[in-house]
Amino acid sequence: MASSPKKNGSAVDRKIYGRRRCTSVATFSEKDLEMAEHNPGLLKLEHKLKILKEEQKDALLAETNSLVFCLNNHVGGLAKALNVFQEYGVNVVHIESRKSRKADAEYEIYVDIESDNPTLSSVVSSLENEVSMIAFHADKELPPSTPVDKNGKEVTMVPWFPRKISELDKTANRVLMYGTELDADHPGFRDNVYRERRKYLADLARNFKHGDLIPRVQYTEEEIKTWGTVFTELTNLYPTHACREHLANLPLLIHYCNYRVDNIPQLEDISRFLKERTGFQLRPVAGYLSSRDFLAGLAFRVFHCTQYVRHSSDPLYTPEPDCCHEILGHMPLLADPSFAQFSQEIGLASLGASDEEVQKLASCYFFTIEFGVCRQDGELRAYGAGLLSSIGELKHALQMSEKIRKFDPINAIEQECLITTYQDGYFYTDSFEDAKEKMRQFAMTIKRPFAVRYNPYTQSVDVLDSARQIAIVVNELKGDLCIISDAVKKLNKDKDGETENVFNY
Ligand SMILES: [Fe+2]
Repeated sequence: MASSPKKNGSAVDRKIYGRRRCTSVATFSEKDLEMAEHNPGLLKLEHKLKILKEEQKDALLAETNSLVFCLNNHVGGLAKALNVFQEYGVNVVHIESRKSRKADAEYEIYVDIESDNPTLSSVVSSLENEVSMIAFHADKELPPSTPVDKNGKEVTMVPWFPRKISELDKTANRVLMYGTELDADHPGFRDNVYRERRKYLADLARNFKHGDLIPRVQYTEEEIKTWGTVFTELTNLYPTHACREHLANLPLLIHYCNYRVDNIPQLEDISRFLKERTGFQLRPVAGYLSSRDFLAGLAFRVFHCTQYVRHSSDPLYTPEPDCCHEILGHMPLLADPSFAQFSQEIGLASLGASDEEVQKLASCYFFTIEFGVCRQDGELRAYGAGLLSSIGELKHALQMSEKIRKFDPINAIEQECLITTYQDGYFYTDSFEDAKEKMRQFAMTIKRPFAVRYNPYTQSVDVLDSARQIAIVVNELKGDLCIISDAVKKLNKDKDGETENVFNY
């Protein structure tokens, strides 16, 4: 017998904890009765319970006790369990089935019985041979519903998250805003041609599936002109404002992906380039995703990337991320291995985390990957894409040294994320390694009953929640440690002059 709280009434209706005495003999859900039509035995059981009640109505009223047990889906399991009560002459005053909260069982049976404690003890002993016992409480209320595993250990409910890279197909189109609808204050709101263009590009993104080539866009002269203005202004600022990783990778993107003032690079070309550099790849998206869905992409080294260009009326302003922001701000950093790892670790930390914790991670993302500053050679430089794609804020942020604090997730989650104005404060890091270490420490405080590890061979996430899973990882690490140990030994021999290095670097 199974019951769904939603199908059969409100969840409150089905809250049986705390109810002391019930006048009903048995409560069966619609689904139970539906099942009973196909299984007359269930109706017989209900009848049997009524007889039990009649037979025992004159018995001395004993203490009321509550039992919850699992049937584990054995055929005839309920009949056997009820026979135990009959054998001991125990009065069953209420019985109810419900959907199990136990991981490996489908149904739970809740019963209120009247018995003295010695009899209860015998009943429990006998029942243990027939069912999987969850709880019994003598003359006191049951605790609130707590999911438990097969060992009776509390189970935390975990939000769904993609386990395989292809499962990003399920979330990539859950665009919150700006897909095709523009706000009234958006520069393109009254421009029907622009809105049609946005619709066309949004449809390209919506039809994309993992494994597809990213469609090439034939950009219009107007779009290229807008891009060209942004490209020229920003590339003038980068030598004095961008971090060294950005400065090192932009020339490579110019060379391999046709970054030019008169050409908007294609996402497919950039995606191929990034895959070779750091394993990151791009996925077109129609607009804003939720923090949870966006961060989940990072866990798989997938960056959801817009393909449209901001409105031409104001090339230096956009109320939303557009391809100028993504291509000039994000891509050069995603080509850096350490930064790529940092980005992925924020994503991995978000998988299965609570909404509250995802918001904290989103704040960390915002003040690093979007608005992060670093100190290099005694100077403050920008590495955040929000800064590296905004002429005004890039200059502004680096002049605000009194408002730039050292990055720490605890402080970052307290700082307000501003969308339509410059930030009130920024955070700097001495290195991505330092920021990564702080994020790792922070991620360990996230309440999750498992750890996750990205498996690049299968492009999936391994959930480490058992000794067996951990043993598999340990075995893989042993292989890597052997390679490292061998390499160290050989290096040491080289230093001692025992062998010659035959590689011609
Ligand atoms: Fe961004």
